[in-house]
Amino acid sequence: MKTDLTDKTIVLGVTGGIAAYKSVELLRLLRKQGANVRVMMTRNACEFVGPLTFEALSEHPVSNSLFDKGDDAPIRHIDWAREADAVVIAPATANIIGKLAGGIADDALSTFMLAVTSPVILCPSMNTHMYQNRAVQKNLGTLKSYGYFIVKPEAGDLACGTTGPGRLPDPPDILDRVLYRLTPSDLKGKRFLVTAGPTREHFDPVRFISNPSSGKMGYAIARAAEHRGGHVTLVSGPVTIPPPLNVSVVRVLSAQEMARAVFDRMEQSDMIIKTAAVSDYRPKEQATHKIKKGEKEKTLALQKNPDILKELGRRKRKQVLVGFAAETQELEKNAGKKLAEKNLDMIVGNLLTQPESGFGTDTNQVTLFYRDGSKEPLDVMEKDAVAHLLLDRIIERIIRR
Ligand code: PMT
Repeated sequence: MKTDLTDKTIVLGVTGGIAAYKSVELLRLLRKQGANVRVMMTRNACEFVGPLTFEALSEHPVSNSLFDKGDDAPIRHIDWAREADAVVIAPATANIIGKLAGGIADDALSTFMLAVTSPVILCPSMNTHMYQNRAVQKNLGTLKSYGYFIVKPEAGDLACGTTGPGRLPDPPDILDRVLYRLTPSDLKGKRFLVTAGPTREHFDPVRFISNPSSGKMGYAIARAAEHRGGHVTLVSGPVTIPPPLNVSVVRVLSAQEMARAVFDRMEQSDMIIKTAAVSDYRPKEQATHKIKKGEKEKTLALQKNPDILKELGRRKRKQVLVGFAAETQELEKNAGKKLAEKNLDMIVGNLLTQPESGFGTDTNQVTLFYRDGSKEPLDVMEKDAVAHLLLDRIIERIIRR
């Protein structure tokens, strides 16, 4: 499945709120995803940010009047509506929300919106009391019933000095909701259990054995599954990246904690994808206090951790079970062995020795190994793209069979 916005035309509507500056960053992010972006501003929005900024970044003229003449489209509000694959209004003021709910068309943006037939993503942002006002809530309810996708404002300190809901979410989160709205829900209702990140095995309160897993690969899988309509639980070791939106995150530290979290949730899952880099061993003893420097050499005795994936393979009934194999040599041989020993439906092999693969990178080069003995080597891709392709193959090669 295509995961970016290449070949899509998005109309970004900007209305007159203090958060209008954030739509400049949103425009940049939409373009980075490959979208052709046209910007429509209300007159009030132009008081907050100059149209020139949007013009330069979108590489298109900005529309802010019903009567502006452009060579690109003779009747802009109709032509742009016809071209749009989606419309994002961010920030959306109480005024535009009221006008859209009432069908009022008295400027370029509100008139254009009456002609739009593509999905609309609306990001309300205003003072908390205005947002909670019954008329605004009623109007939002009306727009929801018309099929508008409403991105809820965040709670926090607002520019007007109040604290509460009303703040425009950060642009990466708005982009994430745009991707969610435009991604087909081919995994609607499926329950996913995804693990990600490293485990930490402490031998005293301040030191531990671990590995450099950043969680990026597992988080990308959780995000992709959510975008495709799945209910996702993400069991995560300690990482510093933000959690995907609308995903239930269970934080764990050690392999034993991860094992408990996973086994507790296995029965309620349709698909289990184990991306976490679990420590195979843990220190036999854990000191209560920091171990002091002493003799020249010290030996750390280790004991085996539970092999979570192997146990899942033993217990599995109808679940689809996918593992990862992180190798430094003989990928095919080692991955194939794990696939068979752990009773998996598929295993994703990656070589940690390649610079664009494995720990911490934004990209990965993986080979998919299937239960029937076949394999599919893939090019270097963004981890988000690997995640979607993995889900495509789960649908084609496991669910549909
Ligand atoms: O997090 P990133 O920085 O994005 O890096 C991604 C990644 C390199 C961590 C990821 O792509 C990856 O390869 N994850 C699996 C790492 C690993 O532990 O591989 P393994 O070959 O040691 O383990 C095989 C499988 O058994 C894995 O699915 C693992 O989750 C599971 N396992 C391993 C040991 C154990 N005690 N219990 C397990 O469940």
